[in-house]
Amino acid sequence: MRVGLLTGGGDCPGLNAVIRAVVRKGAQHYGDEFVGFLDGWRGVIENHTMPLDVERCRGILPRGGTILGSSRTNPFKVDGGPDAVEATLRSQSIDALVAIGGEDTLGVARQLSDQGVSVIGVPKTIDNDLSATEVTFGFHTAVQIATDAIDRLHTTAESHDRVMVVEVMGRHAGWIATTAGIAGGAAEIMVPEEPFDIQAVADRLKARHDKGRFASLVVVAEGATPVEGSMVLQSRDKDAFGHVRLGGIGNLVAEEIESRTGFETRVTILGHVQRGGTPTAYDRVLATRFGVAAIDAVHDEAFGSMVALHAGEIIRVSLADAVAELKTIDPRLLEVARVFSG
Ligand code: F6P
Repeated sequence: MRVGLLTGGGDCPGLNAVIRAVVRKGAQHYGDEFVGFLDGWRGVIENHTMPLDVERCRGILPRGGTILGSSRTNPFKVDGGPDAVEATLRSQSIDALVAIGGEDTLGVARQLSDQGVSVIGVPKTIDNDLSATEVTFGFHTAVQIATDAIDRLHTTAESHDRVMVVEVMGRHAGWIATTAGIAGGAAEIMVPEEPFDIQAVADRLKARHDKGRFASLVVVAEGATPVEGSMVLQSRDKDAFGHVRLGGIGNLVAEEIESRTGFETRVTILGHVQRGGTPTAYDRVLATRFGVAAIDAVHDEAFGSMVALHAGEIIRVSLADAVAELKTIDPRLLEVARVFSG
């Protein structure tokens, strides 16, 4: 078969491992040929491709980013976009398309699948907020990076008797904040799912320091909001999927904590550091399993489905279910984190 591949949305450690797995199993086991579409759906709209074979995939397993490039282009927001997609797939003689992405990329895949395009989805996001899969690759790497940062901030916080605020990614869900917060021994964790009361946070920090401990780590997800107000946004620009660019809530939290407690407070915004660099072993393995399962799904003609992790096994779910709802933080995990606050 002739199979097209694309990576869409924000990049994520492990994308190259998926590409490699699809191509290796496809070429060696099924005798497939591959076409790499550049920069997500944009490459399909513009018929912008690169050759993709086993040779091209050598050495990419541990590399972060994506050799195909990525974008947040939405064909359904571009004039003539869906027609251009179909024209490209026809002109390239594509039998099936493997779309690797998060809710937005997979949402487009679902719409195209409804229009008859043969597409298989692979879930990707460091935010881990796709409900149809227990976990997405990239999340484990992002948590490890955030935990390493928290560990480092702990030692400098102790030296200076400071509060350290760390802002991590997580637009709609606090998975990175909660998991890295637990792993790093954070005193406070703020997530998008539960608006935070800054005075209560300040009171707990004061009580904690009164007990004689002098370093507190506060982890804030970028999408966290205060009870009484709206989010602080770095920019109100929206992408083609209507998302505003977040970032900056950590600064507000740090200022408020310092003025309400009198404790010297510093802020670190981890930002895209969490998305860069080499994937952890866990993410390489999960991405590889997803890639192998995706090309198997192509040959089973299970079009309109996405591969997913469920109870340790790789399963297939419909693209419709995959994008139906976001997976917000498990309240039981948040409860575990709360044991250590204050
Ligand atoms: O969707 C994943 C994500 O990393 C979010 O956590 C973050 O808000 C967003 O991407 C950042 O996107 P960009 O790279 O376009 O600034």
